[in-house]
Amino acid sequence: MRAIAARPGSSEPYFVDAPEPPEPGPGEVLCRTLELGVCGTDREILASKQPWTPPGESHLVLGHECLARVEAVGDGVTLEVGSLVTPVVRRARPSADPGMRVDMLTFGDYVERGIVEEHGFSLPLWLDRPEHLFLVDPGLKPLAVFAEPLSVAEKAVNEAIRLQTARLTPETWSDPPPRVLVTGMGPIAFAAILAARCRNWPVVIYGRDADDSPRAQLAQELGAEYLPADRAAFDQHDSFTGGYDLVLECTGAEEVLLAAAHVLNARGVMVWLGADRVGRSRSLNLANAMRRAVVGNHLHLGSVNAAPRDFADALQHLAQMQASHPQPMAALISDRAPFHDALAQYQNRNKQGVKAIVQYEK
Ligand code: BGC
Repeated sequence: MRAIAARPGSSEPYFVDAPEPPEPGPGEVLCRTLELGVCGTDREILASKQPWTPPGESHLVLGHECLARVEAVGDGVTLEVGSLVTPVVRRARPSADPGMRVDMLTFGDYVERGIVEEHGFSLPLWLDRPEHLFLVDPGLKPLAVFAEPLSVAEKAVNEAIRLQTARLTPETWSDPPPRVLVTGMGPIAFAAILAARCRNWPVVIYGRDADDSPRAQLAQELGAEYLPADRAAFDQHDSFTGGYDLVLECTGAEEVLLAAAHVLNARGVMVWLGADRVGRSRSLNLANAMRRAVVGNHLHLGSVNAAPRDFADALQHLAQMQASHPQPMAALISDRAPFHDALAQYQNRNKQGVKAIVQYEK
């Protein structure tokens, strides 16, 4: 069988021959990939020319957003053959602190399938353990591949809620709800809109697209207000209450992060969800953002990956939005390629698309 891989020294994705997995042993599940999401992380792994290959291997099989079907189970597994599942990305290494939530582990204490030292789900067949799989309702099949990116946004929101209720009052952000600003227009930004709207929070999305672009339209159909960057004028903002209580920063661009810091309210939270892996550094005046952070008791929160709680929320919220907004939710999956034609999705991005997926034959 073939899988989509990255290798050191090359930025080109390629098809690699991979052995079929053996029958599942006790406690194991054999899964078949039905749909695979392509994401910015895949493209960054390729662009780096330095994938984290599994020890002793010459390549990394890509793929960490996946909808799969259970093909066979080993002894002691209660999952039914034929069930739909979606796997989590990160798994603790045996050396990791067992008391630490997996998504909070430090680099070196975990592997990530398709990202860090373990092959991913572009393999048509792979083995896993049930504790890494979430059951998917058959009705959610068309959207379930979006559960993993949504879990990342859900974590940001869940962490922010916990921190705010801990440092303020248990009722914080229930009535009135927080005003949310999402910066960016990629898949995580759209996921952030869903995480906010499912909680009935008002949300504004800030991006560089024209008002009438398909992505700006889609964001509005999902219930967000669109704020184009050229009309934002964040630097002229001087109130501590007329801005946003929660900023979900999804661009990874320091200019945008700093611009958004100008409109973070007192006691506000900004969660950093994007990061520029290349780490380009620019000389920027941080003084105002720092002053506001100090005087406003801001919390700047970096967030990566997702806890089981966030994955469960993602699946529930996808179903909720599918029921309330069926058309725009379907439009989130903007590009589809059959497996044999998948490589182009890793090399080119549809600039007005949200999520590109690879569809497997069986
Ligand atoms: C994935 C996360 C992962 C992160 C860092 C993201 O694309 O969605 O689950 O932890 O990359 O590797």
